[in-house]
Amino acid sequence: MINEERLWNSLMTMAEIGATAGGGVGRLALTDLDRQARDLFRQWCEQAGCSIRIDRLGNIFARRAGTDPDAAPVMTGSHLDSQPLGGKFDGAYGVLAGLEVIRALNDEDIKTHAPIDVAVWTDEEGVRFGGGCLASAAFAGLIESETALGTTDADGLSMGDELVRIEYAGDEPVGGIPVAAFFEAHIEQGPVLEAEGIAIGAVLGAQGQRNFEVTVTGDEGHAGTLPMNRRRDAYLGAARMADALNAVAFRFDPVPVVTIGHVRVTPNSRNTIPGTVVFSIDSRHPDDGVLSQVKDAMRAECERVAGESNVEMSFKQISHSPPVVFDGGCVDAVRQAADRLDLASRDIHSGAGHDACNLARCTPTGMIFVPCRDGISHNEKESATPEDLAAGAAVLLEIILERAGRV
Ligand code: HGY
Ligand code: MN
Ligand code: MN
Repeated sequence: MINEERLWNSLMTMAEIGATAGGGVGRLALTDLDRQARDLFRQWCEQAGCSIRIDRLGNIFARRAGTDPDAAPVMTGSHLDSQPLGGKFDGAYGVLAGLEVIRALNDEDIKTHAPIDVAVWTDEEGVRFGGGCLASAAFAGLIESETALGTTDADGLSMGDELVRIEYAGDEPVGGIPVAAFFEAHIEQGPVLEAEGIAIGAVLGAQGQRNFEVTVTGDEGHAGTLPMNRRRDAYLGAARMADALNAVAFRFDPVPVVTIGHVRVTPNSRNTIPGTVVFSIDSRHPDDGVLSQVKDAMRAECERVAGESNVEMSFKQISHSPPVVFDGGCVDAVRQAADRLDLASRDIHSGAGHDACNLARCTPTGMIFVPCRDGISHNEKESATPEDLAAGAAVLLEIILERAGRV
């Protein structure tokens, strides 16, 4: 039923939008490239007989009608936005696996009782706006839509204005509709499945995340004239903090992951001593209590270093998503579908965050992982095989048929 070649070709065609020199994809949320990807997805879905709904946050829902229009939909999907130097499969796979399920059902003219929705969630990666997954968080009722719409990117452009600019500011209200269940197919973005030669990951849940923004304030000065012992160098302070934060992680067991991925230096000039540095901290751990201890330890270290480096420091938490446990029935559905298809599967935890983590707060939710090469992701080298991708889609098809009810 799943057409491996059609799925692969759709992924490769989608990957041409925002293709990077290094063989990856750079398709930031709500850019013209994201718009092109959205338009292509809608075109494919309309060709497959789907109706399209777009909500106020630009979330797209492509619906394959069921025999009972009033039944709550079984939903799948993921995201089309990527990291700046991302891969072809993170997000796009979950979206196009959902489309492949619809195409496969069409091939066999199979009807389902409940409708099937394939969702594209706006700005899962959070590279431009806020902390990521804001649109699915609003759909799940975890934040107000206005909060997401008001977030701005580094150029001060708001999510709301960018949705209007690319003509994806939909009319539909965000969330508040019944969803029978949500299943997201995704590459593992880690090495376990490939290393163990296992085709399918039945995802038990995802670790918690706390994101912070640290502002280090010193004084601009002339790189040539100000003696070293009279400087208030914000970049030196930030660099020392980065080293101290790395050491904080190793105080805990299991070790949390702590990443400083975004740094803004002002005035960012070769021959001016940096006066201000703003950097991000992405911290994650399976235990929220440990995450809270990590937060306190990181703040204390930043305060200590600021004092020693003669700079000021502010430490602000910008998002917190507690660890997620997926619905046991949904996890079972993944295991059993893999068994029925004679695919080896294992339980697995997600190190990455996903829109499914938000959907889990409002409907029974599960995830299907497939292997990716060397576990590499958020990297242009991200890679997966047509066979593994098709196997994940076949599991998704099995589950959707079971949940939507074959007529
Ligand atoms: O950051 C994450 O975990 C996801 O890939 N956006
Ligand atoms: Mn993703
Ligand atoms: Mn990602």
